[in-house]
Amino acid sequence: MRIVLSSDHGGVNLRREISQLLTDMNIEHVDMGCNCEGSVDYPDYGIPAAEKVASGEFDLGILICGTGIGMSISANKVKGIRCALVHDVFSAKMTKAHNDANMIAMGERVIGPGLAVEIVKAWLGSEFEGGRHANRIGKIAEYEGKSNL
Ligand code: RB5
Repeated sequence: MRIVLSSDHGGVNLRREISQLLTDMNIEHVDMGCNCEGSVDYPDYGIPAAEKVASGEFDLGILICGTGIGMSISANKVKGIRCALVHDVFSAKMTKAHNDANMIAMGERVIGPGLAVEIVKAWLGSEFEGGRHANRIGKIAEYEGKSNL
């Protein structure tokens, strides 16, 4: 499994925590930044990372900004991306099980690193249930004009 990580300036610290977690879990990952000191624009980091998941270069992606909201909105503009804004462990499990979320977004100004680590573990440790949920995802894909899930 290959995971891409990206954040704006509001998510640098949490992104580094998650990168360390993935290293500790022996999960291959690439950190796309930002390596910024000042303010940057989250779409400039969220969209390129989402494109790498949509293209299949990476299996999953984790995006972080101040709230996670800008990153999740940006990523979900990319065809084939199902990015869930997640700030609790239950939602992290469910968004894999029911939505087959291929990206999650979190807010460094919303949750602490301890909870963020548990969220990532829960998401990675869950399986898509398929069945009726695949049918629902298929309807989203159909709407966005992408039928090859
Ligand atoms: C940056 O100040 C902040 O707006 C950004 O990190 C994010 O929270 C936007 O959704």
